Amino acid sequence: MKINQKTKPTLQERGLTTKDILQKAQRAKNDEFYTRIEDVEKEFSMYEPSLWKDKTVFCNCDDAVDEDTRRTSAFTLYFMQNFQKLELKKLICTHYSGTIDLFQQGTKGYIFIKDRFQEMKDYPPNYTGSFDHPLSLEILTEEADIVCTNPPFSKAIDYWKTIVPSGKLFLILSNIALVLTTSYLHYFKNRKVWAGYHRVDHYLNPKKELVDAAGHWYTNIPLTERPKYQHLKIIPLEQIPSIYKKIDDRHVLLVDHCYIPSDYEEPFAVSVRPILNGLLEKGYAILREKEYYPYVKRKKCFARVLVHKIGN
Ligand SMILES: C[S@@+](CC[C@H](N)C(=O)[O-])C[C@H]1O[C@@H](n2cnc3c(N)ncnc32)[C@H](O)[C@@H]1O
Repeated sequence: MKINQKTKPTLQERGLTTKDILQKAQRAKNDEFYTRIEDVEKEFSMYEPSLWKDKTVFCNCDDAVDEDTRRTSAFTLYFMQNFQKLELKKLICTHYSGTIDLFQQGTKGYIFIKDRFQEMKDYPPNYTGSFDHPLSLEILTEEADIVCTNPPFSKAIDYWKTIVPSGKLFLILSNIALVLTTSYLHYFKNRKVWAGYHRVDHYLNPKKELVDAAGHWYTNIPLTERPKYQHLKIIPLEQIPSIYKKIDDRHVLLVDHCYIPSDYEEPFAVSVRPILNGLLEKGYAILREKEYYPYVKRKKCFARVLVHKIGN
């Protein structure tokens, strides 16, 4: 695997963050951020092995299945390599034909199926492989137990609209900043989705070079533990260092650096980080389904989420 050439300016030199990269990709409809197998392994190994037993896993944006493992989607590869260990019933992966195929697989949509007895590729007539194609939706509804993928960033809103209400378990990789966006906030507010264990900062481009972008795992699978709770600093307001708390022009409290006031009864605004660290499991709830843009001394600040305390 080639690493970014040294001559290339760093993100810092370009005045960008990894979050900016995914947002730019989303705007540019660049979906060529492929997941590394080590990131799939790191996240998936955190879940109880019994989760997968006798289950059908559906990878519905995982187009490449190739004899050469370097050309196979990391999700597909992970489940093929661990099929017996996880005691899976079936693995179904769809190949999307809509774009020029980056893994030289041809442009025909297909369905790859592995069960305990066989592996096969099916090319149904006129099948595009799109996650919202009627045949893909039928697999989702009729067969899938758990959906796992890194969906295209440019179509993430529609993808989430399809998967979250489907009633199926899912473990997917998306932009780290989704919690701050009106299109997604309601999922988190209504506890239909929560952060998985890890963030993902590195992907592969079609040339297998490492590229930086900020993603996070999201799921509706109950977590057995959340090590990131330890990053939350829930303490009385008075003890929060003054550089990490301020009042905005609308008299709303803004807190940073994962400081959370334990004794504050009014709504207050946080960045995405405490939400991803499990704040909503610690007696706090999202107040509204719209991001909050604070103004401090009439200057617009970055988006936040309004939360409030609901328990002790
Ligand atoms: C961000 S990439 C991730 C690929 C793979 N899941 C991985 O993690 O490496 C998203 C993939 O979704 C495919 N894609 C784009 N539109 C799609 C659609 N409507 N349905 C299914 N897959 C789609 C793209 O071709 C691209 O390969």
